[in-house]
Amino acid sequence: MTCTVLFLGLAAGASGQGPGAKSQAVQPWLNAALDPDTRADLIVHAMTLDEKIQLVHGSGWGVLRDGDPVAPGHNGGAGFVPGIPRLHLPDLNLADSAVGVRMAARESRYATLLPSVLGMAASWDPKAAHLYGEVIGRELRDQGYNMSIGGGVDLIREPRNGRNFEYASEDPILAGVMVGELARGVQSQQVMGDIKHYALNDQETGRNTLDAVLNRRALRETDLLAFQIAIGRAQPAGVMCSYNRVNGDFACENHYLLDEVLKKDWNFQGFVLSDWEGTHSTLKAASAGLDMEQPGDTYFGAPLKQDVLNGKLPEARLDDMVHRIVRGMFANGVVDHPPVRRVVDPFRGRDDAQKIEEESLVLLKNDAGILPLSAEHRQTIAVIGGRADFGVLSGGGSAQVDAPGGRPGGSAWGVPVYFPSSPLRALQGLSAPDSTFRFDDGSDPTVAARAAVGADLAIVFVTQWMSEGQDSLTLSLPGQQDALVAAVAAANPNTIVVLETGGPVDMPWSDKVKGIVEAWYPGIGGGEAITRMLYGRVNASGKLPVTFAARDADLPHPQVTGLTPKTGNNGMDASIEHGEQAHDFTVDYNVEGMMVGYRWFQAKDKQPLFPFGYGLSYTRFAYSGLTVAPGGASVSFDVANTGQRDGDEVAEIYVTLPRAAGEPFRKLAGWTRVSLAAGAHQTVTVALDPLYLSIFSAEKNAWERPAGEYTLEVGGSSASLPLHQSFTVAATPATSVH
Ligand code: BGC
Repeated sequence: MTCTVLFLGLAAGASGQGPGAKSQAVQPWLNAALDPDTRADLIVHAMTLDEKIQLVHGSGWGVLRDGDPVAPGHNGGAGFVPGIPRLHLPDLNLADSAVGVRMAARESRYATLLPSVLGMAASWDPKAAHLYGEVIGRELRDQGYNMSIGGGVDLIREPRNGRNFEYASEDPILAGVMVGELARGVQSQQVMGDIKHYALNDQETGRNTLDAVLNRRALRETDLLAFQIAIGRAQPAGVMCSYNRVNGDFACENHYLLDEVLKKDWNFQGFVLSDWEGTHSTLKAASAGLDMEQPGDTYFGAPLKQDVLNGKLPEARLDDMVHRIVRGMFANGVVDHPPVRRVVDPFRGRDDAQKIEEESLVLLKNDAGILPLSAEHRQTIAVIGGRADFGVLSGGGSAQVDAPGGRPGGSAWGVPVYFPSSPLRALQGLSAPDSTFRFDDGSDPTVAARAAVGADLAIVFVTQWMSEGQDSLTLSLPGQQDALVAAVAAANPNTIVVLETGGPVDMPWSDKVKGIVEAWYPGIGGGEAITRMLYGRVNASGKLPVTFAARDADLPHPQVTGLTPKTGNNGMDASIEHGEQAHDFTVDYNVEGMMVGYRWFQAKDKQPLFPFGYGLSYTRFAYSGLTVAPGGASVSFDVANTGQRDGDEVAEIYVTLPRAAGEPFRKLAGWTRVSLAAGAHQTVTVALDPLYLSIFSAEKNAWERPAGEYTLEVGGSSASLPLHQSFTVAATPATSVH
């Protein structure tokens, strides 16, 4: 079939069409009217064996390692795959871009720091997620990249995981929808998108060697469901397999994960690229479904060519690998509409980042209506800690965006980076004229408490710096910050705490302060967004995408597996760097199985500090009138804003399956975000994907809906669900809708 099309193309060229048409006729894959698969078939057919091999691996560590050669055409990002000029196939230039484009400063470029992905997910707003991806895609294009590396959708099974700020939720549906929309946003800018790290890369300690063990049913219903939803929504060009092992095999040579589930069950048409040095073999990996080794050619260079030449790997499999890669290039416009370098618009980026953050802030506590603050009355305000006089914190590792005015050549690995968006300055801007501000850096709780004494209120900014390559030993805020808050709260009855954390933390002082706001890593518009929320210029509307446990002992794994004070906060990465003995170990996720996050707390009857889906508003919402369509196809209910201010409410829908399902917990099945003026109400209808009301049968390798009674509950938090209704279904196989 491929040959016929090629022949017809050549014949058309010979019959004397115009020059554009002529080159398309000679190289018919350049014809944008053809579908991406046909174009991919045509170009693969025209390639030599060496050209095919060239496309299935990166060109080395390049700029990531001092002294390593940098290939010509390399744009300064984490990955580079040279194109084939004679076939008009462009280079692939890949940049890490989890929360904004990484390493811009190497080339004196600028990139917007967005709020953390976890923060964005707290908006529960798929439009905000799409905008997030648009910012990343737009700035990648402006900087000359045609593929993003980001889209982290690993579940937050381990709340102390150093990369939780790159991930979206402990719930697979929330994570999958939000990260899927993010990747769709990236690809809307004619940049190839990526979803990572497939799969169960749920902690950093030991990530290069650990074996994450989880039974198939739970795997499909939790961590893999998040990937399934995100990949189904976005159809990303790439999926990055992770460093760790999953049920025995490394993820990047795991036949079950790559071939059986991703490519067969989910019909993924894109390519699988390995995490950087996450490839461990040639034949095993290629046969299992890995399509591209990154960043080098150890396994997929000469050894792969040899395996094809001696017939160990069928050339058809190599063709499939290349097809998948170039298909993504055609499908996303990087061949027809290559990026055009231009100056990034930092103001547009900051406005977008601020808008997203304003939807993502979660108001956790507001006793005696201490918030919003009044801009009418002159006040004395003590602002303490968190470098609030300078800016806001960002997360580290390969998600690190370089700060404007930061270190020459870019940020150093392992060093916390603050962005110049000062909450103190923003507070000064919005407070009543003649208000007085006292700033204390919070390094000494006693001194800070003195600054708070006699002030009308004290706002304490606390931070938890997290990074790839390391987990936190505990849920506690680092350093003396718990003592700091306690001391300030003892000195001033009107204390408000603003958290800038990578993920959940415990708060032993929570009942001593009047206000608590979770700001995540707030991004370049963070100072302004936080302040506008504190002053009520925007209403609070975020809801927690992750449970905040009261203490480590309440978690399924009271300690991060493999992390001890001796390995420090660096786990495996540090061991490797220091040449220590590698330690293999198993992380037994069967302990909680399907009961990730809030489900664990419910099933074990444990009270979290703040539950999943929780978040306050400056107004109040009332729910009524639930009706459920036959079979639970959709739900309708009324949401009323019964308070004094306009506001957005995230209305959540949970399902409890029939007892026969063996799932003794309710789980999220859908949600909607409603904007309501004070006093207004609206009847909303939310369609429920039957997949989300289903269970996965490992025996049948299929989703099904057990027969029996289902209960749907609706409300504003997983722990506050005023509406409920049950319905009965006969057993039916489920069909997935995305
Ligand atoms: C990270 C990936 C990242 C890659 C390239 C790895 O250490 O796990 O998320 O994309 O490096 O920088």
